[in-house]
Amino acid sequence: MLKQPQIFLFFINRLLNLYDFRQITMNRITLKDKTFKTSIPYERISEAIDAVAEKINQDFNGCEDIPVLLCVLNGSIMFTAELMKRLTFNCQVVSTKLTSYVGTSTTGTVKQAIGLTADITGRRVIVIEDIVDSGNTIVELKKILEEKGASESRICTLLLKPDAYKKDVKLDYVAMEIPNDFIVGFGLDYDELGRNLKDIYVLDK
Ligand code: IMP
Ligand code: MG
Repeated sequence: MLKQPQIFLFFINRLLNLYDFRQITMNRITLKDKTFKTSIPYERISEAIDAVAEKINQDFNGCEDIPVLLCVLNGSIMFTAELMKRLTFNCQVVSTKLTSYVGTSTTGTVKQAIGLTADITGRRVIVIEDIVDSGNTIVELKKILEEKGASESRICTLLLKPDAYKKDVKLDYVAMEIPNDFIVGFGLDYDELGRNLKDIYVLDK
């Protein structure tokens, strides 16, 4: 038989659990003039990275060259860090910085703000992108990598917005597909804010 204090504690416990659940599912944040709500929790991001890393390992394990992981700054900093921990072959990290977004929309023009930080002539390159949206950035990147003499380039992206992507470039490794909504967190920003968030948030319309 449950005694009164035990019943009381049971209900308090249930209430606290409900409160925790609300924190996880209903979390809202404000960056400048916009409010965002939790969309993809870190645990799901991490599982998706596990899966994509396994595919890359299957393709590159035992390779005799040293493939280049090209981190596209700033958006893919967090993804690159998480992905490289899971890769089991020898690789080199090189960075470049491209920009195209202002606020919540793309300008359509991709600018190379920082060139490649190492020579990639004759090397196999795996481009590590945070998100493929219109695809303008990866088209530009493929062009740059060809000009710089890469022997092969593959695209690996954490996120893909299939409804926005209209290019022919093959996306070799895609961790997650998402609707065509503006998101922040896990490296992605709104006017340079929100990159440090562990989870991914979507614009609350
Ligand atoms: P794309 O050139 O249109 O494919 O866009 C590529 C770049 O725009 C990504 O690497 C991101 O840096 C940025 N971007 C695209 N969609 C979003 C978004 O929803 N939130 C934040 N940045 C984004
Ligand atoms: Mg990017």
